[in-house]
Amino acid sequence: MKLENGIAPILEIKDLKKTFGGNEVLNGFNLELYKGENLVVMGKSGAGKSVMIKCLVGLMRANSGSIKIKDQDITQLRQEDLDILRTHIGFLFQGSALYDSMTVRENLLFPLRRHKKRLQLKEKSETLVREALSNVGLEHTIDLMPAELSGGMQRRVALARALILKPEIILYDEPTTGLDPITSKEIIQLMRNVQDTYDTSSLIITHDVDCARVISNRMILLVDGINYAEGTFPELSNSKDPKVQAFFKN
Ligand SMILES: Nc1ncnc2c1ncn2[C@@H]1O[C@H](COP(=O)(O)OP(=O)(O)O)[C@@H](O)[C@H]1O
Ligand SMILES: [Mg+2]
Repeated sequence: MKLENGIAPILEIKDLKKTFGGNEVLNGFNLELYKGENLVVMGKSGAGKSVMIKCLVGLMRANSGSIKIKDQDITQLRQEDLDILRTHIGFLFQGSALYDSMTVRENLLFPLRRHKKRLQLKEKSETLVREALSNVGLEHTIDLMPAELSGGMQRRVALARALILKPEIILYDEPTTGLDPITSKEIIQLMRNVQDTYDTSSLIITHDVDCARVISNRMILLVDGINYAEGTFPELSNSKDPKVQAFFKN
């Protein structure tokens, strides 16, 4: 399932294993993400999707396996280098995970304060905050508190925050979970706009079949701790394999 002629993936997971006590969650999981693609990973609840993404950003340590991002093995990096690498990655956590006690502006300033010097961004912080908010259609909420926003708006602010450093890679963990169908559609549309505008590479974890259909260029099904099946949405949804079919039945 290599996408393009000999081009190396921007992100690569090889033979990833992660256990908690006797619970084998990831059992040799593999994944390659190529530049500019939207790769969807689907798996049942508890399959290990969030564990996989946490290993990816170094929030959790795997038992074994390698994770390369932009040719650097993150399992071998020092904290300092990991921090630098993380500035290339936007991460939309499950839920919106905004800071409750900060305004929208302060939420967006947070990653900027941490990384601005290192990134040598020339624009003023306020300009970047406004630009990021206007990308998600929410410039008018800049002085509001998260509690004053609807769930969908909070998710959009979280997306703006993930984008403010103009990352090359965006990781989405269940971006539409808990949202009503109309708001889900809005978020999916925004994710597509982001990819068109910035040519980002996105890894999207979801169990939302509609989201996967609309957004994926390619998909991986995480079953029994491994990349059980890979292919496009039409390929997988027409599979005869019962374990694959199970994902597409309502
Ligand atoms: N910090 C942890 N300690 C122990 N078990 C965990 C921890 N995080 C996740 N797990 C277990 O790993 C499995 C996969 O969890 P998770 O990756 O969150 O699933 P999902 O695919 O729904 O995101 C579950 O059985 C969960 O109980
Ligand atoms: Mg999860």
